[in-house]
Amino acid sequence: MRIVVLVSGTGSNLQAVIDAIASGELPNVEIAAVGADKHGTLGVQRCADAGIETFVVNFKDYSERAQWNHALTEKCLSYAPDYVISSGFMRIVNEEFINAFEGTYINTHPALLPSFPGAHGVRDALAYGVKVTGCTVHIADTGVDTGPILRQEAVEVLPGDTEESLHERIKVVERRLLIATLADLAAGKA
Ligand code: GAR
Repeated sequence: MRIVVLVSGTGSNLQAVIDAIASGELPNVEIAAVGADKHGTLGVQRCADAGIETFVVNFKDYSERAQWNHALTEKCLSYAPDYVISSGFMRIVNEEFINAFEGTYINTHPALLPSFPGAHGVRDALAYGVKVTGCTVHIADTGVDTGPILRQEAVEVLPGDTEESLHERIKVVERRLLIATLADLAAGKA
């Protein structure tokens, strides 16, 4: 199973996937390429060490969002992936992209969707005062963190939690769910 992984930030969940492939935990998964929406992400940098192909479709290079979407779609299609994984990719893609990867664009989100979608899922859950939040792996559609849920798990909010401490605990679970989801997809079980 060939995947393209899209990142915008540190790519720690991507690193967990790279490690899982290296350790033989995901024997049928191959990262065809890792792409970012801007230059200088740690996520892309991590790939150099692992010998993984990378690309950037820089959002700021395009005056029209649709042009950026088109370039991203074409670039991802060029790798003929079975799945595209949004792993901390903080851009909304349009219908052209979703149609090109219908049912095969997978997103992870650090909250129990449909609660707290968007760029600040952890911060918003803390601000609301929920006692339990979590993470979700789902098939993405054109909405903001919407689409059929594949896996979801709760994480307790602890007294004194900050956005950082809570997000770190969520990411530990998120990595496990992402790897389990990839194993399911590779086995045709999604
Ligand atoms: C992850 O927690 C992911 O769920 C979140 O960004 C983080 C990326 O971490 N994505 C979203 O909030 C999407 N709405 P990483 O770059 O260290 O893997």
